[in-house]
Amino acid sequence: MTDQNTDLRTVVRDAYGTRAREVLAGERTGGVASQFYADTEALPETVVSYGCGNPVAIAGLQPGETVLDLGSGAGLDCFLAARQVGASGRVIGLDMTDEMLALAAENRAKVGAENVEFRKGLIEAIPLEDASVDVVISNCVINLSTDKPAVFGEAFRVLRPGGRFQVSDVVLVRGITDAERQDLDLWAGCQSGALHRDDYAAQLREAGFEDVEVSVAGDAAGGEAWRSALINARRPGGPDAGKPWVFPSGERIELLPIAGLSGDACCSSC
Ligand SMILES: C[S@@+](CC[C@H](N)C(=O)[O-])C[C@H]1O[C@@H](n2cnc3c(N)ncnc32)[C@H](O)[C@@H]1O
Repeated sequence: MTDQNTDLRTVVRDAYGTRAREVLAGERTGGVASQFYADTEALPETVVSYGCGNPVAIAGLQPGETVLDLGSGAGLDCFLAARQVGASGRVIGLDMTDEMLALAAENRAKVGAENVEFRKGLIEAIPLEDASVDVVISNCVINLSTDKPAVFGEAFRVLRPGGRFQVSDVVLVRGITDAERQDLDLWAGCQSGALHRDDYAAQLREAGFEDVEVSVAGDAAGGEAWRSALINARRPGGPDAGKPWVFPSGERIELLPIAGLSGDACCSSC
């Protein structure tokens, strides 16, 4: 890892560590007030969302499935996924930031989500066995990574053959300036590190995924460089090999244009 990548990861860890500390200290609440979710009323208001979409809405989770959430934050998507996979299923939230893991653990106790566990680790080096997961979800995290090919390679490795990769993320629909690329605050705010939508799809295919689909919010011809996107892909093989797989279309799932990302926290303002 280069020095620059180490610096970027430290900036991201510090940024989300600060946000988690604020919630743990009771200085920031407001719950999961996010336009992407309709089913969060029963959750405590410390289950804060830092996401840019709702990956659980597209994942079509089945009872008994094992789900991995890359960059699980305060645990929101893990708790929603846990309801869907039920007691026979399992949800693993992975995050690198100690304070965020502490907040997620506190939230897990409040929610009583016994089929959820949170682990410390990097999404570029996932601490799980090969082919041990049915579905990888993630919400506004992969753009923050300094090594996207490693993330896609690791997601592919831990998915079973036929396993699904179904995430929300920020993507670019046009180029950005060098100054924007090099702005550390914009990186932590889910902007500078975003891949172009076409590069996102290409890198997933290079990692071995098939049926790759990147559904982008809003009018791609508009002015904003950044868009919320829902991304679907599948590891080849498994019981459904050869059968057409119909992904939920972006038109049927709420996707909102990202206007004026604050650089404060991913999608805090979208
Ligand atoms: C924008 S927040 C999203 C949190 C959550 N997915 C949500 O929707 O609320 C990004 C989270 O990813 C974690 N994260 C960022 N880069 C990571 C990496 N390389 N490995 C593991 N976790 C990472 C951060 O600690 C933070 O909790």
